Amino acid sequence: MQQTLEKIRTDALSAIDSADSTAKLEEIRNEYLSRKSELTNIKKNLKDLSNEEKRIIGPLANKISSDIETKLNEKHNILYKKELNEKLEKDRVDVTLPGSFVPYGKVHPLTRTIDEIVEIFQGMGFSLVHNENSPEVETEYFNFDMLNTPKDHPARDMQDTFYTKVAPNVVLRSQTSGAQIHQMLTSKPPIRVISPGRVYRKESVSARKNNLFHQIEGLIVDKDTTFADLKGVMNEFLRLYFGASRPTRFRSSFFPFTEPSAEVDVQCIMCEGKGCRTCSGTGWLEILGCGMVDPNVLRNVGVDPEIYSGFAFGMGVERLSMLKWGIDDIRLFFNNDIRFLKQF
Ligand code: DAH
Repeated sequence: MQQTLEKIRTDALSAIDSADSTAKLEEIRNEYLSRKSELTNIKKNLKDLSNEEKRIIGPLANKISSDIETKLNEKHNILYKKELNEKLEKDRVDVTLPGSFVPYGKVHPLTRTIDEIVEIFQGMGFSLVHNENSPEVETEYFNFDMLNTPKDHPARDMQDTFYTKVAPNVVLRSQTSGAQIHQMLTSKPPIRVISPGRVYRKESVSARKNNLFHQIEGLIVDKDTTFADLKGVMNEFLRLYFGASRPTRFRSSFFPFTEPSAEVDVQCIMCEGKGCRTCSGTGWLEILGCGMVDPNVLRNVGVDPEIYSGFAFGMGVERLSMLKWGIDDIRLFFNNDIRFLKQF
């Protein structure tokens, strides 16, 4: 029995010596140490031996197991390192190769324009109020009535405004000006807010007009607010947005909810003011409407026009973006053509 054990030891150790891979070592481990191996078998059958034999064979079998185990582990460490080095050598990464390109998304030019304009007004102390204050599906009451727009005003005409079938007086808002009313009904002066959002108009679509577009509404209500303040804020905005060199002009105008009212034009960038198709030959492009909040509007929301005054403005985001980037067709914003979008 002792001889058998010694033979197992010699065979196992020499097999380990000549093993040349970790896989081979696993085979050897299996052969000599697994539950079905001869050595395990001998240990299992110790109970059948005489007491004296047990005392000799038991410890010897255990010693052989642990010798084989130790030798296996030593050899494993050596072979494992060797194999790892070979693998690293073979799979060497060429760090000078260019990586694979992951295309990244870009901010849509309209979002960019809105962000830029919002930032300018925030710099002048305006707070941004969000859409939920002023829904896109709106009642005529907020879109027109409260804004002092008479029932027979042409803007209410079916040509301009999308009427829904939800109820006779529910429209898709044709302007962001309703946000002024929502704001004044939910907060008390002093008010100084801007509210960007989508508006809808029943237009035939062309290079200049789309029936969905964006506006940014602004409103200040405070004591002693004057037309000079309005002009100052508008001029500062224009200077920051277009740079000092682009000519702009104030032109008197009419809106039902402001008195007096004005529009701001920017010199056409397509023709540098000479007159072209884009500006219908005038050399100027209208970008925003503004004015002093009509006392009737203040009264509608319970603000006393004897104490408070204010000014408001509404600007077309697409127009402003087109002028800044030299985009000649409004439809490009909505076509999702990657060749266009990639340029921003
Ligand atoms: N809501 C007007 C439009 O869509 C633009 C406008 C004009 C907004 C004058 C204003 C304003 O706040 O004071 O044409």
